[in-house]
Amino acid sequence: ALVTTTEMFKKAYEGGYAIGAFNVNNMEIIQGIVDAAREVNSPLILQVSAGARKYAKPAYLKKLVEAAIIDSDVDIALHLDHGDSFELCKQCIDDGFTSVMFDGSALDYEENIKVTKQVVEYAHAHGVVVEAELGKLAGVEDEVNVSAEDATYTDPDQAVDFVKRTGVDSLAIAIGTSHGAYKFQGEPKLDYERLEKITNLLPNFPIVLHGASTVIPEFVEMCNKYGGDIPGAQGVPEDMLRRAAKFGVCKINIDTDLRLALTGAIRKYLVENPSQFDPRKYLGEGRTAIREMVKHKIVDVLGCDNTL
Ligand code: G3H
Ligand code: 13P
Ligand code: ZN
Ligand code: NA
Repeated sequence: ALVTTTEMFKKAYEGGYAIGAFNVNNMEIIQGIVDAAREVNSPLILQVSAGARKYAKPAYLKKLVEAAIIDSDVDIALHLDHGDSFELCKQCIDDGFTSVMFDGSALDYEENIKVTKQVVEYAHAHGVVVEAELGKLAGVEDEVNVSAEDATYTDPDQAVDFVKRTGVDSLAIAIGTSHGAYKFQGEPKLDYERLEKITNLLPNFPIVLHGASTVIPEFVEMCNKYGGDIPGAQGVPEDMLRRAAKFGVCKINIDTDLRLALTGAIRKYLVENPSQFDPRKYLGEGRTAIREMVKHKIVDVLGCDNTL
């Protein structure tokens, strides 16, 4: 069924695991993720960015997710990723999303509170839950490119004030992760002390980790071996994600790993089968790669298998 994240987060919090929130942009990506979740009995968060809406057109993604629910019987929350305005959040709520993120991390603190509160009021009146963000992640998003110097980690006391004043349902925090395939220069490092402090100050409150792809070496190497050029890509090691899930982290966002799996598998197929040009062949290979990667994430990293 199409559900909100409320029950998922409650169980994840108590169980010390996390739910995977996967970015979706087309049919093969949705099918790969949902097929994996069905096989291992996991709930899912499928998230749509502004860029995804622009690429696929809003109605297509909504209908594809509805089709996935009919086909799979998996509990799916349909979530807006990084909504940058009240209007976009409202649009998605009106379109039937069950969860929206208002990302006011670029705004000053009081302005972030003001718009987040406005989104929360509209969302809650429609049975929809809201994620907000406090602190700035480094890295690349569609329209924002935050340099490492501009990234600021979430202040624990401010997080408490923010949650209290906005009534938000979950909070994305900055503790050292970043979007994209280049997350760390040297040793990967997350500020667990900060995470623990936030968790202690906000008991039973779901925390969200953005920029949480592992940048799986197998797929980086596959891309590079078959004509790609993405040297030095590095993500958040699996152990660090397992550790974060033990604290209050209930939602772990993954986009880059989907992109790398799809691209790696398609590159490999096309190089190994130069006379093939049926899109179902190479897109099918990409879909299978996504399915196996997501299964691994759910079972071995997130720990949300058999929790449906
Ligand atoms: O947070 C960024 C996500 O990976 C979505 O990326 O805005 O290019 O769709 P996008
Ligand atoms: P990655 O780039 O690490 O996959 O992060 C995705 C994300 O946070 C989407 O909101
Ligand atoms: Zn994000
Ligand atoms: Na957790």
